Amino acid sequence: MGTLNLVPASTSDYRREAEKKLPRFLFDYLDGGSYQERTLAANCADFEALQLKQRVLFDVSAVNSASTLFGYDLSIPAALAPIGMAGMMARRAELQAKRAADAVGIPFTLSTVGICSLEEVAQVSDKKFWFQLYMLKDRGPVLEMLQRAKAVGVDTLIFTVDLAVLGARYKDVRNGMSGGTSAWGTFRGTTLSFMGHPSWAWDVGIKGRPHTFGNLEAYVPNATTPADFQAWITQQVDPSVTWKDIEWLRNQWDGNLIIKGILSPEDAIAAADVGADGISVSNHGGRQLDSVSSAIAMLPRVVDAVGSRCEVLVDSGIRSGADVLKARALGAKAVLIGRPWVYAVAARGEAGIVKLMNTFKGEMKVAMALTGTTNLDDVDTRILDQG
Ligand code: FNR
Repeated sequence: MGTLNLVPASTSDYRREAEKKLPRFLFDYLDGGSYQERTLAANCADFEALQLKQRVLFDVSAVNSASTLFGYDLSIPAALAPIGMAGMMARRAELQAKRAADAVGIPFTLSTVGICSLEEVAQVSDKKFWFQLYMLKDRGPVLEMLQRAKAVGVDTLIFTVDLAVLGARYKDVRNGMSGGTSAWGTFRGTTLSFMGHPSWAWDVGIKGRPHTFGNLEAYVPNATTPADFQAWITQQVDPSVTWKDIEWLRNQWDGNLIIKGILSPEDAIAAADVGADGISVSNHGGRQLDSVSSAIAMLPRVVDAVGSRCEVLVDSGIRSGADVLKARALGAKAVLIGRPWVYAVAARGEAGIVKLMNTFKGEMKVAMALTGTTNLDDVDTRILDQG
């Protein structure tokens, strides 16, 4: 693995540090993708393959990476993506991420299956955060969570639709993380994890308790471990959901609605038709259907189809400020940053996220300056070298 850096600089540095700190089964859960991990690889490779076009001798003394979305002032056009079980990677990681997002000036999105609850995250500050929800077979908890989100001031809901069935991640299978059992569900797994990773054991294993899915505590009364909640979620995944249900949801939620998990122009049009305010072009970070296109490859066609009707976001594969700029160039209004913030919080806590996001911002500004742009509104395919 090599020695760790004194100061991590890039997403891959934080990733390496996270790998060292976390028990194997947790790092694999965070890092891995489904099946042969082809889409996981394509997500990053397709960003890497996009070339920026260097331009010189423009006045770039004032470069601005800021933009707005749904009335939010964003220091960079990004939000932290919803990540289930983030609070197993660092002590109450959702709270740390909320504080970091506040400091950076971007929204934090709490997952349905976060360790911290809506109410706990709302205690951090008066600044708004976003909430992500899945459709569950039992619509009672869905409705209740919408009301709870509203009650704590959430005005933007990310509704994830690419989980009609669960894709398998073979690393999780090998680690005993799927099928309702898991390393933390067994004495042996927990003991081994604690022994091999003392700083995680203290910081998360002991001081980071309770390890419940905070939003779901009321609906799964006898659950005490993440494995118990996972088992409940697995049987609550609703494969019968259609656009009719999204119409129903639209009628229940009068805030901003972003449909996440769109990967075709046809579905993007359907989302706009039911009144979505935004969509996120996404393949769930290569964790669901394998061998689908990368999100960035699909983005231009989706923008062509619905760019004038709703806000188009993209996630899956963003690892740097240059990637954020490339997404803007291809028509995304903003991006969701997934694994990078979790590597950062696992490695260095809240400060790690702030540092990494500031690195993204710095890199964006340099990339803007050296492609001859000073304002994100002027960024389009002209900053790309498309031969
Ligand atoms: C996710 N993602 C996710 N999405 C969602 O809507 N609800 C969730 O609870 C989760 N949970 C989750 C856990 C972990 C460990 C990962 C890595 C991802 C998907 C996430 O929001 C986002 O779409 C991807 O992370 C984007 O891919 P990259 O950029 O992280 O590779």
